[in-house]
Amino acid sequence: MKILVIGSGGREHALAWKLSQAAGVEHIWCVPGNAGMARLTRTECVAVPGTGLQDVAALAEMAHRLKADLTLVGPELPLVSGVADEFAARGLRLLGPSKHAAQLEGSKAFAKEFLLRHGIPTGSLYGIYDSAGDAYSALCAVDWPCVIKADGLAAGKGVLVAATPDDATAFIDRVMVDREFGAAGDRVLLEEALRGPELSYIVLTDGETTLPFVATRDHKRIFDGNRGPNTGGMGAYSADGMIPRELETRIQETIIQPTLAAMSRDGHPYRGFLYAGLMLTSDGPQVLEFNCRMGDPETQAIVARMDFNLAEALQAATEGRLREISMRWKPGASVCIVMAAANYPGEPKTGMAIEGLDAAAAVHEAVVFHAGTKLQGERIVVSGGRVLGVTATGADVKAASARAYEAAAKISFEGAQYRRDIAASGVPDASVRSVSQSV
Ligand SMILES: Nc1ncnc2c1ncn2[C@@H]1O[C@H](COP(=O)(O)OP(=O)(O)OP(=O)(O)O)[C@@H](O)[C@H]1O
Ligand SMILES: [Mg+2]
Repeated sequence: MKILVIGSGGREHALAWKLSQAAGVEHIWCVPGNAGMARLTRTECVAVPGTGLQDVAALAEMAHRLKADLTLVGPELPLVSGVADEFAARGLRLLGPSKHAAQLEGSKAFAKEFLLRHGIPTGSLYGIYDSAGDAYSALCAVDWPCVIKADGLAAGKGVLVAATPDDATAFIDRVMVDREFGAAGDRVLLEEALRGPELSYIVLTDGETTLPFVATRDHKRIFDGNRGPNTGGMGAYSADGMIPRELETRIQETIIQPTLAAMSRDGHPYRGFLYAGLMLTSDGPQVLEFNCRMGDPETQAIVARMDFNLAEALQAATEGRLREISMRWKPGASVCIVMAAANYPGEPKTGMAIEGLDAAAAVHEAVVFHAGTKLQGERIVVSGGRVLGVTATGADVKAASARAYEAAAKISFEGAQYRRDIAASGVPDASVRSVSQSV
């Protein structure tokens, strides 16, 4: 099997790493990949064709030319731009939802209306507004805190949980007046703020059979103790017993299955990865958001525990044979710590040399996934905000976490920053225990 992997982050490195070890995989192309992916066996990085990852015709052309047997899409942009439809029209195999189905991520208004229409648990909607004036006016009738969301893709920066009307007004200005996210801010949603621990629950579906990955928890804020601005994700973990079995069953029965069934009934069967971002509230799990791809850094924590042939599973999913696959997971836990560049999540400082990568990778059960890195001569240098995802497994969260931090401590680059409290809430954490008692 020859596989094309689209993307260049830690998520894509983790997926390509697993695929490069899978029996039956002959060759992997990463478009465009990164310095870590370039080092994998049987793997080569190729430049993004055409005008960018939204240029779905150019991606299809490339897959056709390379004779790829399967294309795996990491980021949301190609999916929301219709890459699955383009590949299907040309008879090329790609794993991912259609353009219509990808609106579950591409339009927060689409997703919210879908959830409400089908009675799938989610925070209540105050309204969807296509002018700043209408959005300001609506603020006098909401409870605080109130959540404001840009409708379209905003790379994780289009959401604010606003404590006061002043904060809300300032954010609406940035989105709708300054148009910081362009057309993604043509509409905004105002919705109820939910409370509770968050959970990332990701499944793989071929439209008939749905297989869940191990549940994970992301850490969105830049600083320890969940302080500071939101980022793309500063770390993630997964562990046996992280959520009780009854809670997982409830997530499947009240959220995942109804969502997939309703997409089919609406005429847009969903195929690929479905990521449900959940709030575990005292009334049970509720949907914060959907993503139409795997998460980053959740993928790094998930892949580290995979004990099955990922290439076979992905191939089966594209051929509607997922029922033939059973996913086995390494028992215990995994932890991924993201090392970020100076000034991230603002404009990151780049170009600094990264030292200690081999020493980190030599730590037992640790693996270093690259994100914002590139090769400069012989050296690997920082080239983006999130630089590395230092990942380790272990018998429990404590063991996995100790190894991941031991490995991270061996890596250095100027201005490196990472959180010291990834997975520190333990398993199961107290908040999840209290939620499960009410479920
Ligand atoms: N209704 C809500 N109540 C409370 N917090 C919320 C709500 N909706 C979103 N949030 C917070 O904002 C974060 C980002 O929201 P959301 O996941 O919808 O945005 P996103 O930009 O699509 O994120 P991602 O980059 O993960 O795809 C959530 O992880 C959560 O912490
Ligand atoms: Mg999202």
